Amino acid sequence: MGCQIAQMTGFRSVEAAEFRLAMRNLAGGVAIVATGAGTARRGLTVSSVTSLCMDPPCLLVGVNSSSETHAAILASGRFGVSLLSRGQEDLALRFAGGAKGIDRFATAPWQQGVLDVPLLEPALGVLECVLHHHQLVGTHGLFIGRIVATHGGNGDPLVNFQGELRALPQAPPESSPIGRSKP
Ligand SMILES: Cc1cc2nc3c(=O)[nH]c(=O)nc-3n(C[C@H](O)[C@H](O)[C@H](O)COP(=O)(O)O)c2cc1C
Repeated sequence: MGCQIAQMTGFRSVEAAEFRLAMRNLAGGVAIVATGAGTARRGLTVSSVTSLCMDPPCLLVGVNSSSETHAAILASGRFGVSLLSRGQEDLALRFAGGAKGIDRFATAPWQQGVLDVPLLEPALGVLECVLHHHQLVGTHGLFIGRIVATHGGNGDPLVNFQGELRALPQAPPESSPIGRSKP
């Protein structure tokens, strides 16, 4: 199923190369989205996690529908989000195809959380979600998760920008930001 509203406008879509070029400049945090327990655990690296709304508290994430994790989240109705930080670049690459299936979980410690979903320990932060809504958009499934538990950590966030993984240094306490994101 495509996006019917976009189809109705009559405008042609940009080509894949133009899409990639434009999206290179969208900096995004890097996370591992995972579900399942034991040998049924499945997960992948994403940069599409977005805070969606406060009431109810929801986030959204886009997952390729060809991924094993897509089917696993639909089956379980829940998922965990582990936010990555400096030093976890190898994990990001491992969960982006460097290993497959349950083997992806072999090189780091994982806890199961209150929803019995895999959460990286340590992580910059973890969020546990029950599936609130799912929608297919072209090649990807859009998952909206209602957040039922969180746990914060520490570290410099890992960011995907211009095709590279970079660590964003935490600002020292005395530094002045360019602008504040809260009024
Ligand atoms: C930094 C980074 C961000 C990514 N973001 C996403 C994403 O938001 N959604 C997605 O479906 N794949 C994303 N990918 C690609 C998947 O991690 C990769 O295709 C993975 O192998 C899919 O899992 P599978 O092998 O089970 O299909 C990203 C990869 C990297 C390295």
